[in-house]
Amino acid sequence: MAKDLAFTCSACGASTSKWSGKCEACGAWNTIHEDTGLAAGPKKTSIGGRRGKTLKLTDLATQEAAPPRTLAGVDELDRVLGGGLVKASALLVGGDPGIGKSTLMLQAAARFARNGLKVIYVSGEESNAQVQMRAQRLGLEKSPVMLASDTNLRDILTTLEAEKADLTIIDSIQTMWADHVDSAPGSVSQVRTCAHELTTFAKTHGMSVIMVGHVTKEGAIAGPRVVEHMVDTVLYFEGERGHQFRILRSVKNRFGPADEIGVFEMTGKGLAEVRNPSALFLSERGEPAPGSVVFAGIEGTRPVLCEIQALVAPSPHSQPRRSVVGWDGGRLAMIMAVLESRCGVPFTGLDVYLNVAGGLRISEPAADLAVAAALVSAREDAALPKEAVIFGEISLSGALRPVIQTENRLKEAQKLGFTSAIMPRLPKGTGAAGLELREMQDLAGFVEQVFGA
Ligand code: TYD
Ligand code: MG
Repeated sequence: MAKDLAFTCSACGASTSKWSGKCEACGAWNTIHEDTGLAAGPKKTSIGGRRGKTLKLTDLATQEAAPPRTLAGVDELDRVLGGGLVKASALLVGGDPGIGKSTLMLQAAARFARNGLKVIYVSGEESNAQVQMRAQRLGLEKSPVMLASDTNLRDILTTLEAEKADLTIIDSIQTMWADHVDSAPGSVSQVRTCAHELTTFAKTHGMSVIMVGHVTKEGAIAGPRVVEHMVDTVLYFEGERGHQFRILRSVKNRFGPADEIGVFEMTGKGLAEVRNPSALFLSERGEPAPGSVVFAGIEGTRPVLCEIQALVAPSPHSQPRRSVVGWDGGRLAMIMAVLESRCGVPFTGLDVYLNVAGGLRISEPAADLAVAAALVSAREDAALPKEAVIFGEISLSGALRPVIQTENRLKEAQKLGFTSAIMPRLPKGTGAAGLELREMQDLAGFVEQVFGA
C-alpha cells in the first residue's frame, strides 16, 4: 500500500496532508516539512493486537496516592514545578537562545544533586570542559553533578540505563539524533522521536527527564512546541535581552497549577531568585505620570503588582497604530471599543501604545480596568493617584465584574505601601486589608468619577 504523506509545521507542530508555503495554523512561512517519523502510518485498523491488562480503579486505592517529590530548595523553581520535582516525570523547558536555559538547568542540577538525587547533565551543545567552566563561574564546580557530552540517543539511553540516574537533563533536544530516523538533527521527526523515547525511558525507569528546547525562528529546526503534548510539564523561560529579569512560567503541569511564575534575576554569578517580584516590577516607577497605572494581579497562586503604561498620540497615518507588549492585542481592541461605545471616549485618529513594565506578560482579564485606566489617563493627560492600585474585569456592556482572589490582591497592595484600590464591588465576606476602596459599578461611572469626564 502506498504510504500516506504527512507534513508538519516545525514552529507549532500542526499536521497537514499537503505541503504549503505558509502554515495555516500559526501563520509562519517556510515551516512545513514532510514528516518521516511518527505521524505517517498505514491506513489499516489496529484491531487484532495482544490483549493487555485492565485494573479496577478501586484496587489502586491502596497504592501510594501522590508520587514522591524532591525540592530544589529554590522557592521560585519549586513553586513553578508545583511543589518540587515529581519522580519519573518528563519536563520541557523552552526559551529563546541565550535567555539562560543552560544556566538555569545547571543551577537546578546542582541543587537537586545536593538534595540527594543522582543527576546527569547531558550537553549536546557544549563539551564537558565548557560545562565545567560555566559551573566554575556559577560557583558550582564542587557539586556532585555527573556530566556527559553526547548527541546520539542510543548511546545516551545506554548510558542512562547503566547509570540509573534520578534526573537527566538534556540540553538541548534539538541537538539529539536517533540513528534509526532518516533526517537531520533538529528536524520535526528527530525532535519528536528523541523526546518520545526519552519520555518513555523516563517513565519505565523511574527517572525524571528535563528537556531543553530552543524557541526557533527558522523553519528548518523544530521548536519546543512540537513536543509539548508528550511531556507532563511545560515551562517557558522568558525575559527581554535588555532586562536582567527572567520569568519561568508553567504553561502546562500535570502535577500542579499552570500559569505559575518564578522570577529570577540574571547576575554575573548566574540566576538569583527574586522573592518579592512586586517590589522589583515597581522599583523603576517615578512620580505619577499620565498613562501609568499599578495593576494588582495574580500570577498562578501569588499576587504580583506591576505597572501598566499607555501612550496615546495623534496619528500621522490613515490607519492608526495599536502596539501592545505584555498583553493581548485582541483584548486591547475590545477595551477600546467598550470605552468608545459605552463611555464616549473615542480613539479614532490616535496611535495607542500599551506596555507592561518589566517584561511581564499578563493574561488575566482582571487587568481590563487597569488597561482602560491607563488608556484614559494617557488620552486625557491626567495622572492617577500614586497610592492607588487598580483591577477588575470589563464586560462588553461596560459593567465591571469582580475578580478572583480580591483579598490577596488588596493585601499585597497594602504590604507595598498602597493606601487605596479602584475596583469592582467587593464580594461579600472579603476583607479590605485596610485599604480605602473605591468600588465602581461600571466603566462609564469609573471614567466619570476618576477623570471627571
Ligand atoms: P545560557 O544559559 O547559555 O542561555 P541558553 O542556554 O538559554 O542559550 O545563558 C546565556 C547568557 O547568560 C549569556 O549571554 C551570558 C549570560 N550569563 C550571565 O549573565 N551570568 C552568568 O553567570 C552566566 C553563566 C551567563
Ligand atoms: Mg544553552
